[in-house]
Amino acid sequence: MARSINDVIDLTVEELDELIAVASDMKDDPGKYAKICEGKVLSTVFFEPSTRTRLSFESAMYHLGGSVISVPNESSSSASKGESVADTARVISNYADIFVMRNPKEGSSYVAGKAASIPFINAGDGGHNHPTQTLADLMTIKIEKGHFDNLTVGICGDLRYGRTVHSLINALSRYPGVKFILISPEELKIPDYVRREILEVYNIPYEETGDLVAAMPELDILYMTRIQRERFIDPANYDRLKDSYILDMEKLQTAKKDMIIMHPLPRVNEISVKVDEDPRAVYFRQTLYGRYMRQALILKLLTEKDYKEPKPPKMIKSEVLCKNPRCISQTEQELEHIYKLVNEEHQIYRCIYCESKMKMPQTID
Ligand code: CP
Repeated sequence: MARSINDVIDLTVEELDELIAVASDMKDDPGKYAKICEGKVLSTVFFEPSTRTRLSFESAMYHLGGSVISVPNESSSSASKGESVADTARVISNYADIFVMRNPKEGSSYVAGKAASIPFINAGDGGHNHPTQTLADLMTIKIEKGHFDNLTVGICGDLRYGRTVHSLINALSRYPGVKFILISPEELKIPDYVRREILEVYNIPYEETGDLVAAMPELDILYMTRIQRERFIDPANYDRLKDSYILDMEKLQTAKKDMIIMHPLPRVNEISVKVDEDPRAVYFRQTLYGRYMRQALILKLLTEKDYKEPKPPKMIKSEVLCKNPRCISQTEQELEHIYKLVNEEHQIYRCIYCESKMKMPQTID
């Protein structure tokens, strides 16, 4: 079976360091890589809007000498006629050498990766994971700060639905001395599983606050995020929360001189355009680092020979439906309801697709 990257933790710390090293070499010596993927085809299938992720993947493949075939929206694909994600992945495996997908259904990337017979990369599955944004973030931190350890990282905005936030916390928690200050309205705090299964399990120091101004002087990195309108079921809640944080020059007065300001983009109004001129604003360079990291990842997946899949966790099948209304298992009829054991002591299971928590599902085998 070909390798899938669904989550940033599908890559080891050594692999992340290797990707950053290769991406940096691609930045410094692009000619060396200009034809390295000649004859190879990348397929991008995006069922949610995107500017950076889709175009940077496509640009990445062209910078490696390869070609691209693309489905830029759901309505121009046979998904609009009812074709499943799994069947889409099986078909694309006959046309391309590597497959990238964005889909609003959480866990859709797990399904696509299992069905594809070519390497697969998740470009965002609903509010769940967005691993290649994290690759862009890591290269940005490495180049702009020089290291990952002993940094105080403030993450501000929509920490509940912001998939880039969950992946970034997961990735940075693997480096020593990192501390998080998590800045959000009460309703948009990080999900419980990030707090319990990453921050608390690995003893990562963190604070939760609603006050950006008070947190500012401590920060080495300020990672701003957009309030994710598309994830709100009640639009009134979005309207109430959308302007919770607006970073402007006044709020930056107490920030460290060498703090960097990051944002996965798109920005709505959470960073004033005046901040763009501040040398600490690195969010547009972050989009370029994203292209280099995607180049490095494409090259790795197309050339690696010795990948061995890790041992799977203990899993059970159940008749109990996943309770997450955005889970792919709610809409794809062919999928079995499968849960993985994540905490033996408390018998906590998670949906194999979207990773929503389930307590003691009824087993049928
Ligand atoms: N950061 C990000 O994922 O941007 P797009 O939605 O434009 O791809």
